[in-house]
Amino acid sequence: MTRLLKVSGPDDRTILEAAAILVAGGLVAFPTETVYGLGADGLNPEAVARIYSAKGRPATNPVILHVADVAGAQALVSEWPETARLLAERYWPGPLTLVLPASEAVPSIVRAGGPTVALRCPAHPVALALIRAVGRPLAAPSANRSQHLSPSLALHVVSSLGQAVDLVLDGGATEAGLESTILDLSGARPRILRPGPITPAELARTIGDLETWEGVVEAGQRQDAPGMAERHYSPQARLELVDRGKGLSATSGTVAYVGFGTLPALPIGVRGVLLPLDAEVVGTRLYALLHELDDAGFARIVMERPPEGEAWLAVRDRLQRASAKERV
Ligand code: TXA
Ligand code: MG
Repeated sequence: MTRLLKVSGPDDRTILEAAAILVAGGLVAFPTETVYGLGADGLNPEAVARIYSAKGRPATNPVILHVADVAGAQALVSEWPETARLLAERYWPGPLTLVLPASEAVPSIVRAGGPTVALRCPAHPVALALIRAVGRPLAAPSANRSQHLSPSLALHVVSSLGQAVDLVLDGGATEAGLESTILDLSGARPRILRPGPITPAELARTIGDLETWEGVVEAGQRQDAPGMAERHYSPQARLELVDRGKGLSATSGTVAYVGFGTLPALPIGVRGVLLPLDAEVVGTRLYALLHELDDAGFARIVMERPPEGEAWLAVRDRLQRASAKERV
């Protein structure tokens, strides 16, 4: 059985126990403000290798290093540009990951052999206390099998990764619900690799110029974060994105219909789920909802396309990927 321990806050003794496991090269899942992370000592290549095998993650997909403060980040990069300084001052700790040229301290496996490293200082007090207790950066992808839904509860971690994790710290439901915004600062111009809780407009207010993220385009046309395979973040149920009220004519099996703002008339037997017209609230609840519908055994989830507009960028991105057909 995977061990699961409740953690009440940053002073909880379970954090010391978790830190001891990490220092010894083990895997500990822990809460962040976005989703649960699957943590390992980020400077120990063997420990990081265990993350890849636990997740079934391709070796070409690098992992984020989590640090407790700016000094921790600076030790891992060969440059700390003014843009990084400004953004870290404004958004750290918080759901913003910065990609920068890596220093020699960063093991190759963390970078998937590339020249850059992704860094994030999480806002969750338990995550920060854990990084400080270990005294090293923590490599931590989302704590789910590769391409599956990210975990917003400790139980999701257990059901997705099972025995592969030495300890799961249960800090309750995560707050932001969607993974961090990833901004690449290693090129000539700042570029968003993954939309997230911090929007392009917010980033532009701090650093001015940046390349915005334009949506999923044909595979191979543009370079996303390596992990942004077209199909990703998927529930077990078949997820279809539809225009309002469509997609329900040929219903068979158990079907849930998810609408925004109000629900259209639904055929008998279709379970209606109403989400508010508030991108932030939907972002917070999205993964938890998809997990719940999976657990309830729905074979199909028919979901309205979310509204247009920048506030909905991250939600639209995750839903497009979750509904994409199996990658070829
Ligand atoms: O909110 C989050 O970011 C969560 C929590 C646990 O911190 N973590 C997370 O990690 O979402 P993961 O591994 O599921 O997603 C990280 C993404 C992947 O798409 C990966 O390809 C990309 O970050 N990434 C990591 N290192 C990179 C690098 N050096 N350059 C470009 N992309 C990178
Ligand atoms: Mg992930």
